[in-house]
Amino acid sequence: MVVTLREPMVPITEIERSAFCQTDKDLKSKTLEEEFNKGVRWQKLPISYMRTSPEELDTRITEAKAALGQRLLILGHHYQRDEVIKHADLRGDSFKLSQYAATQTKAESIVFCGVHFMAETADILSSQNQSVSLPNLTAGCSMADMARLDDVLDCWDDLQEVLGPEGVTPITYMNSPASIKAQCGRNEGIVCTSSNAPATFEWALGRRERIIFLPDQHLGRNTGLRMGIGLDEMLVWNPFKPLGGHTEDELRRARLILWQGHCSVHTRFTVPQIERARLQYPDIRVVVHPETTMEVVQAADYNGSTEYIIKVIDDAPAGSVWAVGTEVNLVNRIAAENPDKTVFCLDSVVCPCSTMYRIHPAYVAWVLEGLVEGVVVNQITVDEETSGYARIALDRMLSTV
Ligand code: 13P
Ligand code: SF4
Repeated sequence: MVVTLREPMVPITEIERSAFCQTDKDLKSKTLEEEFNKGVRWQKLPISYMRTSPEELDTRITEAKAALGQRLLILGHHYQRDEVIKHADLRGDSFKLSQYAATQTKAESIVFCGVHFMAETADILSSQNQSVSLPNLTAGCSMADMARLDDVLDCWDDLQEVLGPEGVTPITYMNSPASIKAQCGRNEGIVCTSSNAPATFEWALGRRERIIFLPDQHLGRNTGLRMGIGLDEMLVWNPFKPLGGHTEDELRRARLILWQGHCSVHTRFTVPQIERARLQYPDIRVVVHPETTMEVVQAADYNGSTEYIIKVIDDAPAGSVWAVGTEVNLVNRIAAENPDKTVFCLDSVVCPCSTMYRIHPAYVAWVLEGLVEGVVVNQITVDEETSGYARIALDRMLSTV
C-alpha cells in the first residue's frame, strides 16, 4: 500500500478569486493593465496589448477574424465575458464544445475561449492538422487542480489492492487534466460532463459494482443520488489521508467513492439564498448547476449543465421569474437575452469564475494577430501517449450519450 502525506494545497486560482468578487454589477472589461492592478497573476503579453482599450481590441479582433476567414474557428464556453463570447463562432457547454472539436475539421486553427482542460480536450479530439490555442495559458480550473495525477495514482493503487482489479470503474469529470482522463482510458473508465453524468454512471455500473468519481464530489454525489445510490453507500476520498481517510471495510462497502474536490464558484450558492428568493417571489423557479451542493440541488426546482440552464429559461413563459445558481457572466447574459422574464443570480455578490475571466480580449487579439502573421501563439498540445488513452475515455463518453 502506498501512503503519501502531503500538505493540502490551495490552488492559486482559489486565492485570486476574490479579486473580481464585487457588490457592484459592473463586469465590463477594462484595459488589461488596469485588470492586472487587482493583483492577479496572469500570463504576460506584449505591453502594447495591455494598454489597448477594449473598444480598439474589439475592432482588431474583428479584423483579424475577417483576415483569417474559414481558417479560424473560435470556440467559446458560456462563462466567457461578453466582450469575448461575442467573437465565438460556436458556443456551448463542455459537452457541446467537445463535440464541435471532434467534428469541425475544416479550420486549421482553433482558438479556445475557455479553460485549460477544455483546450486540451479540443486538442485530443481535433484532427492532426489543426492547432488549438488557449489565449491565456493561466486560464485553468481550480477544481481540476484539486486532483493531481500523483495523488490519483496513489489512490488507484490503494483501491486495486483493497478491491481487486475488477472492483471499481473510474469516471472523471471533463474538468480534469488530460493525464487523469488518460488514467481512466487505461483502466476501463470514462469521461463525463454535467450533461451526461447519469448515462456514464449507468454505463459504469453495468460493468463493475463501484465507481470512483473525480474530481467534483458534488456532481458525483448529486448524480449518485439521482441513480439511486444512497448516501450511506458513498464516501469521500481525502487525498491527504492514508486510504483516503477510510478503513478497508468501508471501501469495500462503498458503491461510490467521491474525490474530495469542488468548484469554488458553485459552492457559493446556499439554501438560505434559495429561501430568500422564494420569499421575495413566491412563484419563482430556481435552476442550478449540479456542481452546487446536494442541499442546494434538492432545494432547487431544476438542475443541469449550462446549456440546459439556458434552454430551460429560454423555453419558459414570458413573465416567469428565475433565480439561477451558476456563473454570473452567463446569468447576466441569459437575463439580457430574455427581457420578457426576470432572471437573476442567487448570489448577490457578483463573483465570476476567476479563471474563465482570465480570457481578456487583449489575449484574444494577441493570439489572432499572431495567426494572421503565421505564428501559433499559446498552442496546447497533449503528448501522443496521454492523448491516445484520454481519447479512449472521451470516445466512450461520446458514444455512450
Ligand atoms: P458545463 O459543462 O455545464 O458548461 O460546465 C462547465 C463548468 O466548468 C461548470 O463549472
Ligand atoms: Fe472550474 Fe468552477 Fe470555473 Fe467551472 S466554474 S471552470 S468548475 S472553477
